[in-house]
Amino acid sequence: MRVAFFIPVIAAALFSASPMLAQTRPDHDHAAPQHWSFEGALGNFDLAAVQRGYLVYEQVCSSCHGMKHVQFRDLEGMGLDAEAVKSIASGYQIQEGRDLSGALKYRHGLPDDAFPTPVKPAGVPEGVVPPDQSRLTVVYPGGPDRIYALLTGYGPAPAGVTLPSGQLYNRFASGRVIAMKPPLRGGEVHYPDGTSATVEQEARDVTTFLAWVAQPHLVDRHRTGVRVLVYLLCLAILLFILKRRIWSNVE
Ligand code: HEC
Repeated sequence: MRVAFFIPVIAAALFSASPMLAQTRPDHDHAAPQHWSFEGALGNFDLAAVQRGYLVYEQVCSSCHGMKHVQFRDLEGMGLDAEAVKSIASGYQIQEGRDLSGALKYRHGLPDDAFPTPVKPAGVPEGVVPPDQSRLTVVYPGGPDRIYALLTGYGPAPAGVTLPSGQLYNRFASGRVIAMKPPLRGGEVHYPDGTSATVEQEARDVTTFLAWVAQPHLVDRHRTGVRVLVYLLCLAILLFILKRRIWSNVE
């Protein structure tokens, strides 16, 4: 009896929620697949691109996005020595405790600290939180292809589309609107290797860096996979020879 009473109530709730569900459903253009050094079973990170991408993260993204699962020391993996890592770490301000008046206290970063998450970054609308970038290429639906497309995909809103306040048009963002201002316009960084810092280049490099940060053991896993395959192949050949030997005198 009681169950029968609830059925119309549940049906009404679902019915009234359905337009809401339809509105929040991801609705964006499909990102074109890119060629990445790290994709495929034999993929390997192009460490020069990872290092360039770090510069873009440091000089652009880090003013809004933190990486709480990445420590400065992890940067040694992209080919930096301990001294270089120490000097990068000390360039960041790490919040630790409060002073007597209750204000937040800061100190220079150390290699064992994680990349700090900026508190109330400038240029971000109230109530919007830039996502942590430690695992972004893995957790962001569409992965590296869509991050690259998003960074290079800002443009004017089509005629007839009115943007909510504080939002910009980007056809690769969910709902085609996003509260992040275009972070790259080209020339934000100076690449020491002479690579020209176009929007596309910076977007490609920072995406490679974020993929490296998110999957530091990817290359090791690929190497193990190849070793296992070679081992299985040798084993198969040996077993085949053994089988021929054992059965060679049977008519
Ligand atoms: C001025 C601050 C700011 C900077 C600088 C910035 N971002 Fe963002 N970012 C944001 C905010 C705010 C959001 C959340 C947007 C939203 O929810 O609409 C965001 C979201 C994102 C997202 C997720 C988008 C989505 O569809 O939810 C990605 C990917 C991203 N940023 C990458 C980057 C990269 C890479 C850089 C550096 C090149 C960067 N951001 C620099 C503020 C910033």
